[in-house]
Amino acid sequence: MPDLLVTGGAGFIGANFVHYWLREHHASRVVVLDALTYAGNLANLDAVRGDARFTFVHGDICTEGLAAGLLRDHALDTIVHFAAESHVDRSILGPDAFLRANITGTHELLKAARQVWLDEGRMPVERVRFHHVSTDEVYGSLGFDDPPFTETTPYAPNSPYSASKAASDHLVRAYHHTYGLPVTTSNCSNNYGPWHFPEKLIPLLIVNVLDGRTIPVYGDGRNVRDWLYVEDHARAIDAILGRGRVGEVYNVGGRAEAANIDIVRRVCALVDDRLRADAALRARFPQSPAATGGDATSLITFVADRPGHDRRYAIAPDKLAAETGWAPRETLATGLARTVDWYLAQEPWWRGIMDGSYRDWITTHYATRERVG
Ligand code: NAD
Ligand code: DAU
Repeated sequence: MPDLLVTGGAGFIGANFVHYWLREHHASRVVVLDALTYAGNLANLDAVRGDARFTFVHGDICTEGLAAGLLRDHALDTIVHFAAESHVDRSILGPDAFLRANITGTHELLKAARQVWLDEGRMPVERVRFHHVSTDEVYGSLGFDDPPFTETTPYAPNSPYSASKAASDHLVRAYHHTYGLPVTTSNCSNNYGPWHFPEKLIPLLIVNVLDGRTIPVYGDGRNVRDWLYVEDHARAIDAILGRGRVGEVYNVGGRAEAANIDIVRRVCALVDDRLRADAALRARFPQSPAATGGDATSLITFVADRPGHDRRYAIAPDKLAAETGWAPRETLATGLARTVDWYLAQEPWWRGIMDGSYRDWITTHYATRERVG
């Protein structure tokens, strides 16, 4: 059973992966390395912090020698690399942090893996794996009638975020080709679910509807994303670690394309339904339109578009399905319902974020977005 170094394990997908992994693999140890940036939150790992198989290390993946020391000290044979700056809007406002974390950080990890696993030979090479978690955004933007991205779609990243992820993908590939490091890469579509930081569309929608704030929809709202419930992503990485081929890239997606405005309407309807059915929820969220007989869609506000906004992403996860048998378990309907219910049940978690320094981001970011239409 592999013992894992999970980078970025205090973030959204990383934390979900750690919970999933420790639940599914009883004989496995997990060391999380996370810098606890604005997006990292130790509370995301509360449920596993007492587990003897789990260790948390507060540190930066860019720190030379840190990851190598962890691989040696904890005798780890697998890296699952989530740590990154992940929000496209922030990359447009300040690309430098993205180049540092996503490119330099990934390179430091590759160097550590090469040194400890290959040069020092501390593990049988058949046992080690560097799994790189990447994004479908590296492939650029599709037209509405284009076929979905496949693993051979040429790279065409359009934002500083996706360009930095593309660079990291190339470094991972180069370390395999040049040094023989056993790597796999997954390029996944938009995730959603528990512990999702409320700067991204779906959690932002939920908390804004509950507090009666406007819902900012960029441009005409017709940009399309493919959505995957986060636990299905964790299961896909598990499948790649267990049954994927070394040196290969796997696209991961939910076969669940939707226009942003449709996601907005679906989440509005879900929150409205929950409040209409439950007086206690109406009392807890008095600013939400449904608490006073209204409709959450009244909060929709079309705002200026994201610069360089990719029109459509779509993924064909056929290779992953054929080689590993993976398929998503949640549909958009079941996944969105679970997500809304999680946010209703975990109000202290997101209140903690909304009442902290994140408030400054909301104020500056949305104050500068002009309304249109
Ligand atoms: P997130 O922003 O929620 O979490 C990122 C985590 O990385 C945080 O805990 C943060 O503290 C940590 N981190 C950032 N810089 C670090 C550094 N220098 N050293 C150590 N830790 C650092 O991100 P997420 O949405 O969970 O995404 C995780 C990974 O999955 C990223 O690589 C992202 O590109 C990729 N991805 C995300 C999605 C999505 O929909 N969210 C989809 C496909 C791929
Ligand atoms: O495709 C995978 C990517 O998905 C990941 O690599 C990124 O880390 C992740 O953040 C996500 O990127 P997006 O830019 O697609 O996600 P975001 O939630 O920021 O936006 C989703 C869509 O919703 C996008 O078309 C922009 C739009 N949007 C977003 C926000 C935050 C709005 O219309 N209003 C908003 O307030």
